[in-house]
Amino acid sequence: MSKIILDCDVGIDDALAILWLADRPGIEIAALGSVHGNAHATVAAANAQHVFDLVGLSHVPVAVGAEAPLAQPVSISGHVHGDDGLGGYGPGAPLRPFAAETAAEQLVRLVRAEPGACTILATGPLTNLALALHLEPDLPQLVERVVVMGGAVTVPGNITAAAEANIFHDPEAAEAVFAAAWPVVLVGLDVTMTAWLGEAELARIEADGRPRGRFAWSILQHYTGFYHSRHGVRGCALHDPAAAMLLVDPGLADYADWAVRVELDGDLTRGMTLADRRGYPEEPGAASRPVIRVATRIDRERLVAGFMDGLLR
Ligand code: BDR
Ligand code: CA
Repeated sequence: MSKIILDCDVGIDDALAILWLADRPGIEIAALGSVHGNAHATVAAANAQHVFDLVGLSHVPVAVGAEAPLAQPVSISGHVHGDDGLGGYGPGAPLRPFAAETAAEQLVRLVRAEPGACTILATGPLTNLALALHLEPDLPQLVERVVVMGGAVTVPGNITAAAEANIFHDPEAAEAVFAAAWPVVLVGLDVTMTAWLGEAELARIEADGRPRGRFAWSILQHYTGFYHSRHGVRGCALHDPAAAMLLVDPGLADYADWAVRVELDGDLTRGMTLADRRGYPEEPGAASRPVIRVATRIDRERLVAGFMDGLLR
């Protein structure tokens, strides 16, 4: 049984990832920490409770995480996910008390309690993970794996021409996470923009009368509206569900092992994920850098079919 700690800015595709991951054989969702990004961290935490209630996970603790990035003002992606992060279908208020610790404290406590047992699935800005690294410098040795939805290594960004949203919302945090010596799998726009939920799948979700299907259909209205305004087609990218699915079944993708740095300074390129793809070692004397496993291609048909099977049940 793999223990998963979720770290999310629970917006629409984060919610879809939770719906897909809940009660999956061999997976235990141990806790969730919220973070700013698609919504304010407190709103994202309430959204998590709402989604958990829908899938019988009301017992899973939810801790509120960072309300702001490490070194820049907070900015919320309301135009993508709606003012409440769930396209108008959020609970509006917390459904019960949150954990009495921050998301970073919760994360550190859980991994210390069971060294090597926990995998982190991070589908929002990486502020909580950076704070947890600060609280527990040995964190990389205590965690089994970190799967991150974020970055655009071989393709353009989505929030700027260079940067993907989760990294852009806290570049300093992402840089700290990519510099740490833990096994990181990066599921970026390189693959998530091809994890496309199209007309045929949307029709199946609309026709499904069960609670997960109905909720998914409701929240997808705002999200697909955003994609339509941007790309002129009906559908959406399954960013966060793709990361959850690659966590469970790494065989859905091809990967490359690259050192990845985050641009912190460029006026046009802040938040860009730059992989060293040269294929030969750094010059002698250059600082060594951990290598990250970057998803470079997915089996779209298998991934989307698996998403639909996991969602509609
Ligand atoms: C990422 O940004 C957020 O808006 C989504 O939830 C996803 O995690 C995609 O760039
Ligand atoms: Ca997200």
